[in-house]
Amino acid sequence: MKIALLGCGTVGSEVVRLMRMRTTELADRVGETVEIAGIAVRRAGKDRSHLGVADDLFTTDAIGLVKRPDIDVVVEVAGGIEPAKSWITTALAEGKSVVTANKALLAADGPALADAARAGNADLYYEAAAAAAIPLMRPLRDSFQGDTINQVLGIVNGTTNYICSRMSEAGISYGEALQEASDLGYAEADPTADVDGYDAAAKAALIASLAFHTHVDLSDVHREGIADLTPADIKAAADAGRVIKPLCIASRDDDGISVRVHPAMIPLGHPLANVNGAYNAVFIEAESAGRLMFYGAGAGGTETASAVLGDIVTVARNRRSGARAFPPEAAYGERTVKPIGKARTRYYVSLEVVDEPGVLARVAATFAHHGVSLATVHQTGRGEDAQLVVVTHYAPDEQLTATLDELKRLSLVHSVSSTMRVEGD
Ligand code: NDP
Ligand code: HSE
Repeated sequence: MKIALLGCGTVGSEVVRLMRMRTTELADRVGETVEIAGIAVRRAGKDRSHLGVADDLFTTDAIGLVKRPDIDVVVEVAGGIEPAKSWITTALAEGKSVVTANKALLAADGPALADAARAGNADLYYEAAAAAAIPLMRPLRDSFQGDTINQVLGIVNGTTNYICSRMSEAGISYGEALQEASDLGYAEADPTADVDGYDAAAKAALIASLAFHTHVDLSDVHREGIADLTPADIKAAADAGRVIKPLCIASRDDDGISVRVHPAMIPLGHPLANVNGAYNAVFIEAESAGRLMFYGAGAGGTETASAVLGDIVTVARNRRSGARAFPPEAAYGERTVKPIGKARTRYYVSLEVVDEPGVLARVAATFAHHGVSLATVHQTGRGEDAQLVVVTHYAPDEQLTATLDELKRLSLVHSVSSTMRVEGD
């Protein structure tokens, strides 16, 4: 079986190394030898001698490699929308199964790629696209097909979890933590994809599409990044017995589904609070299976390559047996995707206020006016001023944001010093 490898960076070079290391095992598992017959890269002159593969395997003509008649399977680990999309659709049109780690492309063009796979009678597998080494796409695609998923809650971006962890644990700055994540190979080629939440939003779209049998477009996902996170936010969370985590939340109720990625405070005792560094973890709540947790490496070359190799074995086996997987994304669910304003969320709000009679009542009345119920209120005196820390119960997000807008306008409120959604109590 001959593989065309498109991309040989952090992930691709590990695919090369692991396939060379496990040649015999892979052949045993597939039933025939699986070899890399060509590797497409962008920079022809780059020294790749450490990989130990013949120079003539490398090419900058990716589409030529995909079309080569001896190529059976295409593995795309280059990233980006184009030319990756053209490579993949060309491969599928020629009946060549595709393995990809490209969540950005899948989230942008998933239905078109699924159609191309169907039309070409080829497989399209992408286990590495969400949460890297953690088996997540396959369980959603196969294992839960007899169940109904109500919620998926988790940490699906290694870079931002790494940054939040390092800021909390080591007290280093946001910039230092981001540099470390890039140096360790966790961040995307353009790390703003991680810190602005695009990477997590793409993964959330893939997860929600599979979980709810409804096409969830990238534009349906409410996205907030962590770029504005400050040491003061980290401290506020710690003072409240919480920690800030970059969350992905996809939930289903009678009105439709809600898919969002944003940082949130969770209690220190929550299992996700101890998911640190580039690790990811995802809770799935299903009607019959109950609650399940998936945990493991969410980024990194070797870890991601493990998931890619698993997909290579699956599509290679299918090819040998003449089988094809059921198309990856089913859209029969046709559920409405609700805007963030309609999602039910909870807030932590820290206010600097005048310390005089009636202030607490006025602040509480503002929440009540917008139909937001308070879970806890703590007041700390600071001379003539005071700090009020409020945690709300769940309410539609638009009611919470309207409350914050009104609080900011009150003369007895000096400032709203910190706001953050709260999850997981
Ligand atoms: P890198 O930037 O490290 O590597 C990209 C590779 O693709 C390089 O070898 C590059 O060539 C090649 N390439 C890029 N554009 C072209 C082009 N136009 N023509 C030919 N070759 C091209 O990326 P990663 O390995 O980190 O990521 C690859 C994919 O895997 C992305 O989709 C990413 O989202 C996904 N992914 C990454 C994870 C991670 O932890 N890094 C985890 C899960 C998924 P050259 O070497 O010459 O520059
Ligand atoms: N940049 C991504 C992350 C890679 O940090 O999670 C894994 O998808």
